[in-house]
Amino acid sequence: TQKKKLIAGNWKMNGGLQANAALLQALREGMGTPACGVAVAVPAPYLAQVQALVAGSAIALAAQDVSQHESGAFTGEVSAAMLRDFGTRYALVGHSERRQYHGETDAVVAAKAQRALAAGITPIVCVGETLEQREAGQTEAVVKRQLAAVIHANGHCISEIVVAYEPVWAIGTGRTASPEQAQAVHAVLRAQLAAATERADRIPLLYGGSMNAANAAQLLAQPDIDGGLVGGASLKAADFLQIIAAAH
Ligand code: G3H
Repeated sequence: TQKKKLIAGNWKMNGGLQANAALLQALREGMGTPACGVAVAVPAPYLAQVQALVAGSAIALAAQDVSQHESGAFTGEVSAAMLRDFGTRYALVGHSERRQYHGETDAVVAAKAQRALAAGITPIVCVGETLEQREAGQTEAVVKRQLAAVIHANGHCISEIVVAYEPVWAIGTGRTASPEQAQAVHAVLRAQLAAATERADRIPLLYGGSMNAANAAQLLAQPDIDGGLVGGASLKAADFLQIIAAAH
């Protein structure tokens, strides 16, 4: 397919006022007019700073999480409407670190996707198996279960989401999925989406997990890989720029 690819950086819990400014300046200077969409998912306290720094550029603002609740007594949570106030275009939901360390279930992830969509924010729904699950031959069942929860909760809006396949064993490990391994799972996800919507072809399917300047082009050349969700390499301007350049 010839649709525009999307490269999203996930800074995770990294950065600071000065580091953010330096990184974004380097990205803006080095990026030119990218052939792909570009986004950065930043820690919530920096949304306002980054909103200002990416204004007028090709870089879209993303959040790393969003509350499943609309508003009220949920100390520490950030609502979709609040994210929207700062021009946030995307929100990660169900990142494996949220599932692993913060107990997010499929139902919570589905509710978060719904809140995002209702506020006009595109959820980037993250799915992926652990090493144990892969070795037990459960990869397909796990990612299908995770995506099914979001599809069922979001019905007719499902064509408005982005999906990110991130094998947990490839995240931050330097051990990336091979292009063939990633493509195989992406094909499964595409078929699952196609059963739910006629517009499955338009839904960007991102790969994440140790994507870097050296392996991005091969991964992005796969027919069902429409972009990347990049952690570590998104913190280094030169690396992130090379990944962006590889996405056309
Ligand atoms: O959201 C990004 C992923 O967790 C990938 O992280 O590129 O550091 O492996 P990584």
